[in-house]
Amino acid sequence: MSSEYKIIDHTYDVVVVGAGGAGLRSTFGMAEKGLKTACLTKVFPTRSHTVAAQGGMSASLGNMGEDSWQWHMYDTVKGSDWLGDQDAIEYMCREAVPAVIELEHYGVPFSRTDEGKIYQRPFGGMTTNYGEGIAQRTCAAADRTGHAILHTLYQQSLKHQAEFFIEYFALDLIMDEEGVCRGVMALNMAEGTIHRFRAHMVVLATGGYGRAYFSATSAHTCTGDGGGMVLRAGLPTQDMEFVQFHPTGIYGAGCLITEGVRGEGGYLTNSEGERFMERYAPNAKDLASRDVVSRSMTMEIRDGRGVGGENDHIFLNLMHLGPEVIGERLPGIAESARIFAGVDVTKEPIPVIPTVHYNMGGIPTNYHGEVLTLKDGNPDSVVPGLMAIGEAACVSVHGANRLGSNSLLDIVVFGRASAIRCAEVIKEDTAHKPLPKDAGDNCLARLDKLRNAKGSTPTADLRLRMQRTMQSDAAVFRTGESMQEGVAKMDEVYKAFDDIQTTDRSLVWNSDLIETLELDNLRTQAVVTINSALNRKESRGAHAREDYPDRDDENWMKHTLSWIDEAGKVTLDYRPVHTYTLTDEIDYIPPKKRVY
Ligand code: FUM
Repeated sequence: MSSEYKIIDHTYDVVVVGAGGAGLRSTFGMAEKGLKTACLTKVFPTRSHTVAAQGGMSASLGNMGEDSWQWHMYDTVKGSDWLGDQDAIEYMCREAVPAVIELEHYGVPFSRTDEGKIYQRPFGGMTTNYGEGIAQRTCAAADRTGHAILHTLYQQSLKHQAEFFIEYFALDLIMDEEGVCRGVMALNMAEGTIHRFRAHMVVLATGGYGRAYFSATSAHTCTGDGGGMVLRAGLPTQDMEFVQFHPTGIYGAGCLITEGVRGEGGYLTNSEGERFMERYAPNAKDLASRDVVSRSMTMEIRDGRGVGGENDHIFLNLMHLGPEVIGERLPGIAESARIFAGVDVTKEPIPVIPTVHYNMGGIPTNYHGEVLTLKDGNPDSVVPGLMAIGEAACVSVHGANRLGSNSLLDIVVFGRASAIRCAEVIKEDTAHKPLPKDAGDNCLARLDKLRNAKGSTPTADLRLRMQRTMQSDAAVFRTGESMQEGVAKMDEVYKAFDDIQTTDRSLVWNSDLIETLELDNLRTQAVVTINSALNRKESRGAHAREDYPDRDDENWMKHTLSWIDEAGKVTLDYRPVHTYTLTDEIDYIPPKKRVY
């Protein structure tokens, strides 16, 4: 098969797939440590989805009041509804402080306090003294923090001579017979050429799969390409049932309105003008964690107190903050609200609705970024040659629900950790083994099949069926009945892919083919998501079941592992949550009722 395609071979120490915040922090970290590093990305690096991150990055700098990484860790464990691995959470919260100071030194233009320190704002679920007060922990560059970080990391990557392969679509991992990852196959979308990258380490930093849903804050590029490759390679994904709905997506458009609005004093109201969050979360109110706020909004709408002609959304008020605060701290969302909702935020509230925002689940890794095999009963064995970081991964620091601003933190800390680890395991004299003789053949057979697919189902139609199913059957509130229906519908969608129709046979700028490859990645993750959700018979974090309304630690304080075979058959298994910490500077935080 490979002879039909001209293959261009490359050899690197490390190949990073994805150029969002995680990918770039990893890329530049690797290059800085002297590793020959390539970064493959399907969009120009500074157009990666991190550019859309608004509110900020958490770190207990204590610039705006007392703070500690132990308090941050406590909040993150509680936010995760005790599904997060406490060793990884400790690592992230401790490393947050040096990681953000490094970013400052690399040139991220953070907003400043009057004394010139990094400005920090309150965010949901972030508290002082183990839940007593509200912490100001989220380091912000106005409401364009992701944009600022992404540009800085790209500049640093160029400075350290990392090599970029831009508008390359990663197709499949190259795995050898011993289960070692030896590289990755990619398509140069502009030229239609096939590239085979051999590397000591492949780092998947491909982001989430938000586009499995109809309405998401995620860019259209968020198609879980790393997760798709991993599942095709016979490796598991973890905790896929935990999908975060951000409380404030713009009604109708889905664009993000940062939680930073509520951090700066904005609040939600229903059709009666009531600040209803005071009833659901008497202490934290509008700054409760996202799962709590999204559920409260949904209950208000269901009880007939939604706003608008259809009573189907909620108002976010920030008029009282005044033009000066809005101009200085929230200029980006003022623009988004004007363009996408036709609203002048100094005069009117923004119409908002809970919108799919983040995947807590992903490719299981340890806190060095190494992908776990999770088979044969060994919880620690890793897939040699393969790492995953950022939203593509499940470390797991977010457990069942991520706290806002822990995502920019995650990508920076674990991007950095992956580089530290690679510098330890890849030595100057580490030799490159020859690739298996058939390296890339399966991948090219799949590419060939999809490029020449003459079925009767256009990619866009099947994608819409998947997105509508996920939106209605794996929603903010779930029931066994609706998920059972969703499982059946997703099974049909999965199988209908055999009847896919692509109309353009070219390899050059063939968006029909690329969207079909993306749908192939999305469908596997959508199927394991809804199956994992149906099987988890409790409510925890973002997984809220009406038929099992309580958290059940005795039976369900465990991670879900999911595999899918070519025929679409899903296998589920479970592994214990890590209940140990890395140092004696903090003890294991035992589960308790989660109230805000
Ligand atoms: O609301 C926001 O600014 C989003 C932040 C996040 O998801 O961490």
